Amino acid sequence: MVLPLFVRSGKGERRPISSMPGHYQYSVDQLSKVAREAEAAGLPAVILFGIPDKKDAKASGAYASAGIVQAATREIKDAAPDLLVVTDLCFCEYMDHGHCGVLKGQAIDNDATLALAAKTAASQANAGADIIAPSGMMDGQVAAIRSALDAGGFGGTPILAYAAKYASAFYGPFREAAESPPKFGDRSSYQMDPANAREALREVALDVEEGADMVMVKPALAYLDVLAAVKARFGLPTAAYSVSGEFAMIKAASENGWIDERKAALESLVSIKRAGADFILTYYALEAARWLSE
Ligand code: PBG
Repeated sequence: MVLPLFVRSGKGERRPISSMPGHYQYSVDQLSKVAREAEAAGLPAVILFGIPDKKDAKASGAYASAGIVQAATREIKDAAPDLLVVTDLCFCEYMDHGHCGVLKGQAIDNDATLALAAKTAASQANAGADIIAPSGMMDGQVAAIRSALDAGGFGGTPILAYAAKYASAFYGPFREAAESPPKFGDRSSYQMDPANAREALREVALDVEEGADMVMVKPALAYLDVLAAVKARFGLPTAAYSVSGEFAMIKAASENGWIDERKAALESLVSIKRAGADFILTYYALEAARWLSE
């Protein structure tokens, strides 16, 4: 299980995310504690999402050497050297318009975004990231990142591709957590149509061809068929992202006394595993690790 963490600027900050009880936007100085907790709970990795101070039209904060994710990566590698740091690589949090790529008019300029992805990957690897995880669903991003990493002396740094990522309503709470909702329109020109299963296999095949070392299906619960098909077809290390909405639904129902949280969370996780996930990104990572070790 991999624990997602949200990082913001400031000092001594631990701002609760209202739609995800138990999760916070941490300032960098608060990360060492949670990183050590993750390590002590036996988690192998965390994945970082940054909330920059300033957003602009070229996502400058994503590839700044003193960027929020870069600083967070250094802090965590220092505090818990054996904990792997996965860096989410996307621009929605860094763009003033909240879309995952460069805009030309109202449309995404896929290819102009690739240069930014390449820069960001090199910058994250330089900061010490162990695994780069592009989530923007731009075509060609895995190839662009692979060559930037290789050219920068990071030939050994693997890519976890968010290969089959659907345009999902289950990302709702995340957009509050990461302050990243699009200012207009939606993400359906680059994320996938929930009704389409075959396209997922084509998307994964492209990412594998471009050099993805691990592939991800996202969300998890509503896409277990896709997950099983991806694992069967490609046989690569396969991740599933049990997204913010999946967490929030169980949390909210349990806080109302309508569902047994522990049983429902573990049943969800085991079903994702059963469908073929080798590892799961989940907001229940810490709690589930504790439940499983009791
Ligand atoms: C960035 C990104 C998103 C999530 C992970 N990376 C949001 C989105 O695509 O809108 C969602 C994660 C979650 O809901 O937990 N593109």
